[in-house]
Amino acid sequence: MYFSRTSIKTKTDMNSSYQNSLRVFVALITFALLVPTASGQVATAQEPAPAAQAESDSHMEWWRDARYGMFIHWGLYSVAGGEWKGKDYGKEQGGASAEWLMNSAKIPGKEYRETLTPQFNPTEFDAKQWVTTAKEAGMKYMVITSKHHDGFCLFATKATDYNVVENTPFKRDIIKELSEECAKQDIKFGVYYSQFKDWYHRNRGRGVKGTLSNKEYLALVEKNLDELLSNYGEMSVLWFDTGGNDVIEADRQGARVRELQPNAVICSRLYSRKVPKDKQKYADFESLPDRMLPAKRMTVDTETCMTMRHNWGYDRNDDHWKSEKDIIEFLALCGARGVNLLLNVGPNPEGKLLPEETERLAAVGKWMQVNGDSIYGTTCSPVDFDFWWGAMTQKDQTVYCHVLEWKAGSIEFNGLIGQPGKAYFVHDAEKKALPISYNDGSHVTKIAVPAEAPDVRNTVIAVEYRDPIKADPNAKGKYHWYTNRRIRHTEIKTNKNAGKIKLPPAVKSAR
Ligand code: GLC
Repeated sequence: MYFSRTSIKTKTDMNSSYQNSLRVFVALITFALLVPTASGQVATAQEPAPAAQAESDSHMEWWRDARYGMFIHWGLYSVAGGEWKGKDYGKEQGGASAEWLMNSAKIPGKEYRETLTPQFNPTEFDAKQWVTTAKEAGMKYMVITSKHHDGFCLFATKATDYNVVENTPFKRDIIKELSEECAKQDIKFGVYYSQFKDWYHRNRGRGVKGTLSNKEYLALVEKNLDELLSNYGEMSVLWFDTGGNDVIEADRQGARVRELQPNAVICSRLYSRKVPKDKQKYADFESLPDRMLPAKRMTVDTETCMTMRHNWGYDRNDDHWKSEKDIIEFLALCGARGVNLLLNVGPNPEGKLLPEETERLAAVGKWMQVNGDSIYGTTCSPVDFDFWWGAMTQKDQTVYCHVLEWKAGSIEFNGLIGQPGKAYFVHDAEKKALPISYNDGSHVTKIAVPAEAPDVRNTVIAVEYRDPIKADPNAKGKYHWYTNRRIRHTEIKTNKNAGKIKLPPAVKSAR
């Protein structure tokens, strides 16, 4: 697996020894890099031992710079919205996420298909509007579920008639419309494809048969991949999911991607997490477990995907929306850990993004218009900890302090050696200098700030250095924004009654 350090382009002590290696093969970082802690989160190893990788990784450049993309979960399950026969199976009930309905409610494939395909008629779907929303949100790429675990294809395929064009009143190739619109608007386009789990075509286990033998199923995947990789122009991301342990099978799929779309970026979920990292030959980036903020800086190309509420797919009853501050904070913290954020939307059965989604996306987009320099093209924090007020990203000789909790008077940090040349608010077009003081002994830098936070969600202060940024190897600090404050970003309470609760009539009528 050719993991590359996201911090390759930075100039800190931490990584200066790696600067010459364009592609870093982290053969020795096994899953130890992502050691699950007692709380189920992962911690990253401090300093991986890299080995040079000859092959160029230029296809990763755009992805590293992009930092922020849109994930879309949309399919037959969106019609059901987490409910089946008057019961709610959604994540907000502590069950599986809404797109898992077929499995959660134990629905036979035939019944699921026959019930939902005639209802899939999203007449309000407008590719232009979705792509514009992503663009205005400041997102640089889009990944949509072309086939999720329910086996239904959102694109024209000759491999199965269980697809949007042949089997629904809608008849339109959604992947085609979105890929063309993304190309127009200069947004990188990619597909999620559930290559391993397919509850419709493949045997589900526990005696539940699929429509195909295993051999036939693998042929379907091959055909589907050929279609997705040949019929939709440039495919920038192949976002595989829940991979199995069969490395030969996964490698064959990965090799096909490389062959047909050499510039596509491939998600590590092509492989099961149990497959050692050095055997994940075609994985370009590590996909963290769902909704995860890593404990520390990641030293390999990494992405995390996050829901705006509990469910990925549309759910009629989930109102656990994250606030725009939550999202802006999470984006900054991901940046500080060197992680891309793929933020999810779950459009409704009519084909519309929800108002709660578009409002939040627009707000984050406005923030990005002003503060984008502190996210795009940046790498992880130069120091191996957070600060009580927030965390840092960096680019060239500038450090960006993402101040998530304000303190009247001054924002201070340790860990960086040297007097900065200048500090200013990123939102200030005039870049008016903020007073700086620096203590040579403690390496503490203080920036004088006004009493009120200019932006309570996240005020970004750029701190420019005259020389390459120099981290203090002896500096001490904590990952405050992991230990104390991650809960509201990542934790979802479980409820053992999921799927057993009858829906109150008021909820049902609110459709
Ligand atoms: C999980 C789930 C799936 C969801 C995905 C998003 O693997 O199986 O429903 O699509 O994560 O990351």
